[in-house]
Amino acid sequence: MDKIKVGILGATGAVGQRFVQMLADHPWFEIAALGASDRSAGVKYKDRRWVLQPDMPAAVRDMELRLGEPENFTDCRIIFSATPNDVAKRVEGEFAAAGFYVFTNASPYRMEPDVPLMITDVNPDHAALIRVQQARRGWPGFIVANANCTATHLTSVLKPLHDAFGLEKVFVVSMQAVSGAGYPGVPTLDIADNVIPFINNEEPKLEEEPRKMLGRLAGDRIEYADFAISAHCNRVPTLDGHMECVSVALRRKATPEEAAEVLRSYRSLPQELGLPSAPDPCIVVRDEPDRPQVRLDRMAGNGMATVVGRIRRDPILDLKFVLLGHNTVRGAAGGSVLNAELLVKQGYIA
Ligand SMILES: NC(=O)c1ccc[n+]([C@@H]2O[C@H](COP(=O)([O-])OP(=O)(O)OC[C@H]3O[C@@H](n4cnc5c(N)ncnc54)[C@H](OP(=O)(O)O)[C@@H]3O)[C@@H](O)[C@H]2O)c1
Repeated sequence: MDKIKVGILGATGAVGQRFVQMLADHPWFEIAALGASDRSAGVKYKDRRWVLQPDMPAAVRDMELRLGEPENFTDCRIIFSATPNDVAKRVEGEFAAAGFYVFTNASPYRMEPDVPLMITDVNPDHAALIRVQQARRGWPGFIVANANCTATHLTSVLKPLHDAFGLEKVFVVSMQAVSGAGYPGVPTLDIADNVIPFINNEEPKLEEEPRKMLGRLAGDRIEYADFAISAHCNRVPTLDGHMECVSVALRRKATPEEAAEVLRSYRSLPQELGLPSAPDPCIVVRDEPDRPQVRLDRMAGNGMATVVGRIRRDPILDLKFVLLGHNTVRGAAGGSVLNAELLVKQGYIA
């Protein structure tokens, strides 16, 4: 098949560069346009700072950055968006109204009742909201959001546990890498030799988004999953990879061994369909007493898997464990790319 032409908004940022990296050699998608702010428009991509390894892909080096407005992207069908939230709020609806298929990492549309907030391994059935959205808003295109990076990995692990045992309460403490704040992000003098116990707006996202994604599609709406989450979010001086210490209360009691088996054997639609970016397994369970670790485990499944370890009894709730996932790969760009692959396969993108 001919490759589908895609544009990336926010292509110079931490998430935008991951998009470029993941899409440069994609079997179904071809990068046709790169967008950024008016500070960058007209500048060649190679003249902006590239912060990833390996080097910037050759195919995009000479592309000229465009201002992120729909009229500048008419050669694209899919838009992968990694713009700041205020920009996303303004332009993403305009792109969808103009017929583009928008996959966003920003938060403004995530909790809208007619916008699917999707992790392909968790709630691929929520894609059905696209038709509700198009009918309600009169958009020929659509917006599909992926979750906050910390919520993505938490929800990926909660899903099999919720299906098997039912969740009653979740308590989570995160240790989030500096790339989660974008580029250049947190000043060195704030984060070196330090832990910052506050990330603006992060805890409400972590307490809300998993309940939407684990909710049930009921006709034209989502019934949120019925359990409570309490979150503490911390910024720590690692580069990539968010770690989370989680305790859960279950409706049906389970041993650590039963929970490990449920997580280890979890497979979902992306693996069945063999989607190009799908990790298999999507959850990696480690048995060693000191794993997962950020440096050793963040690239599991090419950065697309979530790694879980230290599954044990919790003396206050029922079980506790540690999880780790890459924030700019599966937690952002990779999650969007996988959502787009699924929707191509399901016929939402003609
Ligand atoms: N970092 C993560 O781990 C992560 C994870 C999940 C979701 N997100 C979300 O993804 C989005 C991007 O985050 P990021 O970390 O990649 O941020 P970032 O590194 O600060 O990059 C921001 C990008 O947006 C562009 N931009 C800034 N102002 C603009 C404007 N007025 N009009 C058009 N483009 C503009 C920038 O272009 P210039 O170079 O021209 O300024 C840059 O390409 C945010 O909504 C964030 O919340 C981030």
